[in-house]
Amino acid sequence: MLADRRQWTIVNHPLSTVNVHRKLEGAMDSEVVFETINLRKEFGALVAVDDVNIKVHKNTLHAIIGPNGAGKTTFFNLLSGNIEPTAGKIIYKGRDITHQPVHRTIHSGIGRSFQITNIFPNLTVFENIRLAAQAMGKDSFKFWQAASHFKRYEERTWEVIGTVGLKERAYTLARTLPHGDQRKLELGMILAPDPEVLLLDEPTAGMAAEQVPELIALIQQIQQAGSKTVMLVEHNMNVVMSVSDMITVMHQGAVLAEGTPAEIAADKDVQTAYLGGLYELNM
Ligand SMILES: Nc1ncnc2c1ncn2[C@@H]1O[C@H](COP(=O)(O)OP(=O)(O)O)[C@@H](O)[C@H]1O
Ligand SMILES: [Mg+2]
Repeated sequence: MLADRRQWTIVNHPLSTVNVHRKLEGAMDSEVVFETINLRKEFGALVAVDDVNIKVHKNTLHAIIGPNGAGKTTFFNLLSGNIEPTAGKIIYKGRDITHQPVHRTIHSGIGRSFQITNIFPNLTVFENIRLAAQAMGKDSFKFWQAASHFKRYEERTWEVIGTVGLKERAYTLARTLPHGDQRKLELGMILAPDPEVLLLDEPTAGMAAEQVPELIALIQQIQQAGSKTVMLVEHNMNVVMSVSDMITVMHQGAVLAEGTPAEIAADKDVQTAYLGGLYELNM
C-alpha cells in the first residue's frame, strides 16, 4: 500500500510540474474546444460511456485516465466520429458535430491516434507521413494533377519529420523501426494535416520505460509550440500527473472525478478506486 501511495507524489518527477502550473494560469479561462453533453454509448446491455459531460479547454493537455474497460477508447471513438453515440451531444468549437462522420472531423481539425499502432509497415517513414498529409487535402486522390500540391505535401512531410525527430530515418521502412520510433512516426502521421486537437490513445503503449519521457516531452512540445489542444489517454501515472493541465477520471463509463493533478491526487474517491486495486498501476 505504501508503494501505491507514492503514485501520488508528483513533485520529484523529472518532468517538472512548474510547467503545468504556469500553463494553468489563464488556460482554464480560454475557449472550450470540446464539450460533451450527456454523451452516451451502449453496446447492447453494456453502457460503455455513461452520460459523460466534459469540457476541454483550448491549448491545454487534458488527460483521461481510468482502469481498463472504463470507456476511454470508446469516448475517443465518439469524439473522432468513428462511432455514433446512443445519446447526447458533442460540441466542437461551438458547433454540434454529434453526427459528423470521421472524414469530416479530420477536416475540422481533429486528429487522433489509436491504441494500436496505425502505420503502413512496408512504406518508409517519409511515405507514411506524406500519405497522412495528402489524405487530409481536399484533392487527396487527385494530387498527381497538381504539381504545386505535390510540392506542398512534400514540404509539409519534411517539416513533420523534423518535428518528430526522424530525419535520419526518413527512408527507413516503418516495420524495421525500433518501437519508440514507430510511436514517433505515428505521432507524425497525426500531426501531418496540422490538427488543432490531438486525441492520443496510449501513445506510449508498449514502449520501453526509458523511452517514455522523450515521447511525452515531444507531445508537450508539440502542444505548446503549436498552441494545440491535446487529449491524452495514458496509464503511466507519473506521466499523467506531471504533464496534465486537467485530468478526467473515468470508471465504468462514467466520470468519477475531474480536476487538476493536485486535486485528483487528493481526491478520496479516486484514491479508493485506485488503491482498492481497481486500477492497474504501471509504475
Ligand atoms: N465495439 C464494441 N462492441 C461491444 N463492446 C465494446 C465495443 N468496444 C468497447 N466495448 C466495451 O466497452 C467497454 C469500454 O471499452 P473501452 O472503451 O475500450 O475501454 P478503455 O479504453 O477504457 O479500456 C468495455 O467493456 C469493452 O469491452
Ligand atoms: Mg482503451
